[in-house]
Amino acid sequence: MEFALPEYTRTKDNTQLGHIPGSYGLPFLGDTFRFVLKPFEVLDEHYRKNGPVFKASLTFQKFVVALGPDFIQQLMLDSKQTFSARMGYNTPLGDFFAGGLLMRDFDEHKFHRRIMQTAFKIDAMRTYVEMMHPIIDREMSRWGKQPKFHFYPNIKTLLLDIGAKVFLGMDMEGPETRSLNESFIDMNEGMLALIRKDWPGLTYRKGMDGRRALEKFFFEIVPQRRGVAGNDMATFFSNEKTEDDQYYSDKIVGEHLIFLLLAAHDTTTSALTMAAYYLAHDQQWQQRLREELKGLGKPHLEYEDLSTVTDLDHCFKEVLRMNPPVPMMMRRTVKEVELGGYQLQPHTMVQISPLYTHRMEQWWSNPHGFDPDRFAREEHKQHSFLWAPFGGGAHKCIGLHFADMLFKSALSRLLLSYRISFADSGQYPSRMQHFPFAKPMDNLPLKLEALA
Ligand code: HEM
Repeated sequence: MEFALPEYTRTKDNTQLGHIPGSYGLPFLGDTFRFVLKPFEVLDEHYRKNGPVFKASLTFQKFVVALGPDFIQQLMLDSKQTFSARMGYNTPLGDFFAGGLLMRDFDEHKFHRRIMQTAFKIDAMRTYVEMMHPIIDREMSRWGKQPKFHFYPNIKTLLLDIGAKVFLGMDMEGPETRSLNESFIDMNEGMLALIRKDWPGLTYRKGMDGRRALEKFFFEIVPQRRGVAGNDMATFFSNEKTEDDQYYSDKIVGEHLIFLLLAAHDTTTSALTMAAYYLAHDQQWQQRLREELKGLGKPHLEYEDLSTVTDLDHCFKEVLRMNPPVPMMMRRTVKEVELGGYQLQPHTMVQISPLYTHRMEQWWSNPHGFDPDRFAREEHKQHSFLWAPFGGGAHKCIGLHFADMLFKSALSRLLLSYRISFADSGQYPSRMQHFPFAKPMDNLPLKLEALA
C-alpha cells in the first residue's frame, strides 16, 4: 500500500512566534551549546523567566518548548492528529531515519507498526531472553580479566553482540557485523554534523555513506529471510504480511530494521551505563539488589522473573527518570492548536522534555538524588505522564519490554558476578555527556571484584 507524501511535509517551519515569551539566544547558534552542556539548567532558566511555554533555539532550530507532564500528555495522546512526529524529527534525523516508524504519521504509521507485531509478542520475547544469556555470560566473564576496565565501551560491545543475534540472527564475531557496526557509528556521527550537506569530505557524507551501506545490506537480507524459520527480528519482520496477504517490500522492511537497531542500541547502552554509575556510588543499593537477585536462587533471570524483581525494577525506572535516553521529544503542528494558552499556527516546531519533567521539584522529592524507592512510594503516579521515558500514545516505544528485559538480564548477571566500585577516588560526580545519550565523559572506569 502506497501513501502519498502528505502536503504538510512540503512547507517550511513557522517561525512567526512573536506572541510566545522567551528568546533564541545567539544568532544561528541560539542556546545550543549551553543546552548541550547543561540541559536541565538551561531549561530551568527559561522556565523561571517565562513560565512552562516559551520559545527557544536549543538545537539550531526554533522551537516552542512546553515543560511539564500536561504537555507531554497533550502531544503524545494527540487526540486530534495535530502533531507530526515525522516533521518534528525531520531536520536532525530525516535523511538517516528515512522510513523508520518515527518518521511516519497517523494512518501511515499505524499501517507500518503492524510489521513489528509478531516480533514483540510474548513468545518471541521469551526466546530473546534465552538468546541473550550465553552472550552476557561469555562477555562478562571476560570483563574481570581486563586490567583497566571501562564500563561504557564494554557494555556497548556486549549489546552489539546481543543485537546481532536477536535482531539479525547473526554472530558478532564475523567481519560482516563489524562493518555493520562501523556504518552505525558513522551514521551517529553524521546525525550530529554541523554542516548538513551530503558533500565529499564532510562528516554528514560519512554518515550518509553509512546509511547507504546499511540499506544495501538490509535490502538484500530481507528476501533471503522470507519463508525461512528463525527466531530473530529480521526474520519476523520479513515474513509479516499486510491485511491483503502481501509481503511488505524489501525496502520497507529494511528501513524499519535500520531504524529499530538505532532506536534499540544507544538507549539501552546509556541506561545500563548510568545504572552502573549510580550503583558504583551507592554501595547499599548495589548490595540490596544483589540480595534480591540471590533470593531467586538461579544464575539467570527467566522471562517470568522480570516482573517479580521489584527493587531492580525500581532501579531501572529511577535510572530512566534521572537520565532519560530520549531527553527531548519533538513534533511539528499540522494544524492550528492551543498549547498552554498560546495559539500555535500550523508547521510550528514543539519540544517536550522528559529530562526536565522527570526532575521538576513541584512533583518529585529530592529530584536530583538517586532514590529508586520513590517508585515504591508511587511518586510517579501523581500524573500519568510525569514519568515518560518511553513516550506515549501512537508512537510509544515498541521496545520498552525488550529494554526492560535486557536491562534486568545484564545488570543482574553483573551484580551476581562482581562487586563494582569506581576505579579512582574523586570519580563521583563525573562530568557528564548529555547528548546524544547520557554517559560519564570518562567512559566509566570501574573496579570489578569477582564474587564467589
Ligand atoms: C531504555 C531504552 C529505551 C528508551 C528510553 C526508549 C525511548 C523511546 C521513546 C521516548 C520513543 C518515542 C519517541 C517519540 O514519540 O518522539 C521510542 C520509540 C521507539 N522505540 Fe524506543 N526506547 C528504548 C529502547 C528501545 C528498544 C530496545 C527498541 C527495539 C527493540 C526500541 C524501538 C523503538 C521504536 C521502533 C520506536 C518508534 C515507535 C513508533 O514510532 O511507533 N526502543 N523509544
